Amino acid sequence: MPPLTLAIETSCDETAVALLRGHDALLVSEVASQIDRHRATGGVVPEVASREHLGALPALLPQVLAAAGVSWGEIDAVAATRGPGLASSLMVGAAAAKGLALGLGRPFYGVNHLEGHLLSPFFGPAGGHVRPSVGLVVSGGHTLLVEIAAVGRYRRLGGTLDDAAGEAFDKVGKLLCLPYPGGPEIDRLARAGGDPRRFDLPRGMTGSGDFDFSFSGLKTAVRYLLPKLATAAPGGTPLPLADLCASFQQAVVEVLVKKTLVAARATRREVVAVSGGVSLNTQLRGDFTRACAAHGLELLLASPALCTDNAAMIAFVAAMHRAAGLPPTPLAADIDPNLRLPFLVADAA
Ligand SMILES: Nc1ncnc2c1ncn2[C@@H]1O[C@H](COP(=O)(O)OP(=O)(O)OP(=O)(O)O)[C@@H](O)[C@H]1O
Ligand SMILES: [Mg+2]
Repeated sequence: MPPLTLAIETSCDETAVALLRGHDALLVSEVASQIDRHRATGGVVPEVASREHLGALPALLPQVLAAAGVSWGEIDAVAATRGPGLASSLMVGAAAAKGLALGLGRPFYGVNHLEGHLLSPFFGPAGGHVRPSVGLVVSGGHTLLVEIAAVGRYRRLGGTLDDAAGEAFDKVGKLLCLPYPGGPEIDRLARAGGDPRRFDLPRGMTGSGDFDFSFSGLKTAVRYLLPKLATAAPGGTPLPLADLCASFQQAVVEVLVKKTLVAARATRREVVAVSGGVSLNTQLRGDFTRACAAHGLELLLASPALCTDNAAMIAFVAAMHRAAGLPPTPLAADIDPNLRLPFLVADAA
C-alpha cells in the first residue's frame, strides 16, 4: 500500500490536520479556523493564535485518525509546516509532529508553507503530478511568481516589494469598514453589481519590465479617495461600496494576470498554476481562465478547499519530496518564521 502521511499545519490562525495516502488519496483534511476569535481585534494576535492551536490540536489529531479509520501505527511519515509564519503558531504544530515522528519511529518532514501553496494546484483533479510551469502564489502574506521545473527545483521570478495581494485586500477592507478578513467581503460586494471602471486606481509596476509587484500605492489611493467621496456626497449618501470594491479588485487582478502571462512567455512554460487565499477570488479565477485560454496556456487553479491554509497541501509536499527521493528533515531543525523557498536557479532550466 502507498505510504500514509500525517500532516499538521499551524503557520497562522488555522489548526489543520490531514491524512494522505500516497500522493493523491486524501483520506481526511480538517481545518479548525480561529477566524471568529480574531474578528474582534481585526487581525491575528500571535499569542492568542498559539493558545488556540494548543487547545485545538490534541482533539483534532485523534479525530482525524478516527474519521479515516487508521491507527497510529499505520502512519509512515509525519509532516508539519516549518515556516514561514508566526513563530508561536509554527512551534505548536512542529513540536507535535516531531513528538509523533519520534514516538512512532517515522521520518519527519518540515514543510515550507509556500511550497505547500505553490504545489497545491497539482493536487487532486490535476492528477498529483507536478509539471514544469509558472506558479503564482497570492496569499495573505505573500505574492510570489516562481518558475517550477520539478518538485524541489524552483526559480524565483519576482514578488511583492511591499504589501502582499491578500494584505492589500484586507487593508482596503479595513478602510471600507468591512468585516475581517476583507478579501472575501470585497469579492462579494464587487459581485453585487460593482462597476470595475468607476474609479481609475493605480496598477503598480505594470511597466516595470520585471516580475515584481507593488500594492501599497493602490491601497493609499483608496485611502485618499474615501474622504473625497465623503465630501462630494450630499449628507448621508452611502459610499459607492460595490463600485469601490470592483475597481480595487480589478486593479489587483489585472496586474497579477498580466505579469503571470508575461512570465509564462518569458520562461516558455505552457502551464500556469495559481494558488493561495486570493486565488479564491471570483474575478481572478474568471480572468485567469479567459486570459490563459486566449494565450494557449493550460491553467491549474488550486481547488477552493486548498486555497486558504490547510494540511492537505503540507502532506502533498511531504509525499512528493519522499517520492522524489528528497531527504526528511532532522528533528533538530528548528522552525523558521522567515523560511524562504529554496531557489535553485541553475537547476531550473
Ligand atoms: N474571495 C477572495 N478574494 C480575495 N481575497 C481573498 C478571498 N478569499 C480569501 N482571500 C484572502 O486570502 C488571504 C488568506 O489566504 P491564505 O490563508 O492563503 O494566507 P495566509 O496563510 O494568511 O498567508 P501566507 O500563506 O502568505 O502565510 C486573506 O488575505 C484573505 O483576505
Ligand atoms: Mg497560507
